[in-house]
Amino acid sequence: MAKRIDVSGLNAYYGSFRAVEDISMTVEPRSVTAFIGPSGCGKSTFLRTLNRMHEVVPGARVEGKVMLDNEDLYGNGIDPVAVRRTIGMVFQRPNPFPTMSIKENVAAGLKLNGVRNKKLVDEAVERSLKGANLWNEVKDRLDRPGAGLSGGQQQRLCIARAIAVEPQVLLMDEPCSALDPISTLAIEDLIGELKEQFTIVIVTHNMQQAARVSDRTAFFNLSAVGQPGRLIEIDATEKIFSNPSVQATEDYISGRFG
Ligand SMILES: Nc1ncnc2c1ncn2[C@@H]1O[C@H](COP(=O)(O)OP(=O)(O)O)[C@@H](O)[C@H]1O
Ligand SMILES: [Mg+2]
Repeated sequence: MAKRIDVSGLNAYYGSFRAVEDISMTVEPRSVTAFIGPSGCGKSTFLRTLNRMHEVVPGARVEGKVMLDNEDLYGNGIDPVAVRRTIGMVFQRPNPFPTMSIKENVAAGLKLNGVRNKKLVDEAVERSLKGANLWNEVKDRLDRPGAGLSGGQQQRLCIARAIAVEPQVLLMDEPCSALDPISTLAIEDLIGELKEQFTIVIVTHNMQQAARVSDRTAFFNLSAVGQPGRLIEIDATEKIFSNPSVQATEDYISGRFG
């Protein structure tokens, strides 16, 4: 199958500290890939290298290659801002723009992309809110502040904002870790729907969640604090959770840590 993302020999640094080492993996289109592994093993760092957000940290840099379809995202002449628009990101804590209404939140990216036509914006807002399973809850109060929604609704608002610009890939860094169980299930259902259209990479510390939502799972680990994180294995989620190839994966998923 054609690969949507193809990473090879990737190292990510904060100053002289190498946080992740020599990662190579591929991600298939219209699939969900979960990243699991202990805290500090570089899951978030690696995720942020996939849309050139890592380098916004002063002193941070990346070595290696990230191909999106057939384009090297770190190649000459690539605009990192454009990359961040093509590859959207949803964070751990819902972060709607505090001074903006629900509608303005969803439309924010479109406006940045120069879409001014009111009808087109309205259509995209409705489509995105429907896509994020939020439309029915907010359609009568689109002009109210986004920050007034519940946590779970805010996270779906952030997903609506991310998909409004029709990104090719959606990166999610523990998107449910600040949510209650019902909102979590709503987001998990949504991920299942979104993957028909988008390619999704999700970091989760919840192994049941990885097992429920993902097609493939990547296990990351680090040999000791201060050592770089590494990709230990990536495989079909079913295989990782039933019969992983590496003992360290087995130990982690069964709760035996080292
Ligand atoms: N902004 C930063 N500056 C310096 N070091 C960082 C920064 N963010 C993360 N790190 C370090 O990089 C390593 C990987 O962190 P992170 O990617 O957040 O891991 P995970 O998401 O798996 O918990 C850790 O040692 C962490 O302390
Ligand atoms: Mg993290």
